[in-house]
Amino acid sequence: MKLPLGFAVVGLGAISRMHLESVATIREARLVAAVDSVPDRVESVVKEFGGTGYTDYREALSNPDVDVVCILTPSGARRDIAIDAANAGKHVIVEKPVEITLQRIDDMIEACNRNGVVLAGIFQFRFKPAWRFVKDAVASGRLGKLVLGDAYNKWWRSQEYYDSAGWRGTWELDGGGALMNQGIHAIDLLQWIMGPVAEVSAYTGTLAHERIEVEDTAVAALKFASGALGTIEGTTSVYPGYTMRLELHGTEGTVIIEGDYITEWSVRGTTDEEMEQVRQFSASYCAQSTASDPAQTDCTWHRLQIQDVVDAILHGREPLVSGAEGRKSVEIIHAIYTSARTGAPVRLR
Ligand SMILES: NC(=O)c1ccc[n+]([C@@H]2O[C@H](COP(=O)([O-])OP(=O)(O)OC[C@H]3O[C@@H](n4cnc5c(N)ncnc54)[C@H](O)[C@@H]3O)[C@@H](O)[C@H]2O)c1
Repeated sequence: MKLPLGFAVVGLGAISRMHLESVATIREARLVAAVDSVPDRVESVVKEFGGTGYTDYREALSNPDVDVVCILTPSGARRDIAIDAANAGKHVIVEKPVEITLQRIDDMIEACNRNGVVLAGIFQFRFKPAWRFVKDAVASGRLGKLVLGDAYNKWWRSQEYYDSAGWRGTWELDGGGALMNQGIHAIDLLQWIMGPVAEVSAYTGTLAHERIEVEDTAVAALKFASGALGTIEGTTSVYPGYTMRLELHGTEGTVIIEGDYITEWSVRGTTDEEMEQVRQFSASYCAQSTASDPAQTDCTWHRLQIQDVVDAILHGREPLVSGAEGRKSVEIIHAIYTSARTGAPVRLR
């Protein structure tokens, strides 16, 4: 395969800068095509980042220099673009959620498999060092037998946010609300660390916004396949909004992680050496050492994930977050929606 890989970015809205800046800084990547149905957005991106501008993604797909397509259109407007890209032999990266229903995600996975191209779903938190450290610690048994795993994503979004783009807060294009759009990062991390969810019981409500179809408040009780229990709380209704927090409890101890920092590590048998590692993921340590601050707001984490996809393409392996990996959180969210709608527990497996 010729290098650098040619990238097309489709959907030049709020999140696109993370992808454009990432592509600009990855040695094996270059921007070839910038696509949006709004011509002004195309024009300003081409001016700043280069490449050829398109208002129809199909034209970009016929450009032979395009190898990889980043699809950043609204959540429920990715399936057809992804399938067309795969059929044109292009690798596919999609923002979170991969798509808004399991059937639509399965269609994308099938098209990418059939065409022998990679499908990757963005979950940039998985590339942050504090989360990787905790994931590895739990996987290696440091918490003992897992007992309880809780994800709290009590965020606030204003009415203006929902009014700012026609797709926001709709079932058809957002696919859900506080969970499908905002809480999905926390839900992905919870199931990544705790393992598969087996059953959910949930309530949802639309309590603090007008003119939206979807939930702004959701609570769920979980049974994990391991036998551990847990909870999810996700909102866009809690003012002023609080940092995402996961609380993980096992027979050997407790870890709490808030945003990008470990705020509690009480684990039996912790050595001085291990505590020194943990301390490097604390807010106070990172405040003194900007070089290792995991909370930096540039494109670092998108860049690490897109670099992983590039490496996966070049070495013929799966990316760390494949389409199938990205599907897992959407499956849990749909189980929560079904339970809230029917009033009954929903089994996932
Ligand atoms: N990883 C993250 O933390 C993160 C953060 C924000 C948004 N996102 C995700 O990114 C996606 C986009 O969100 P956003 O906030 O950038 O939305 P946005 O509304 O700002 O941008 C969407 C863009 O897509 C364009 N578009 C829509 N249909 C198109 C089509 N068929 N062809 C070409 N362009 C088209 C629109 O004109 C718009 O410019 C969402 O799925 C969201 O969940 C992820």
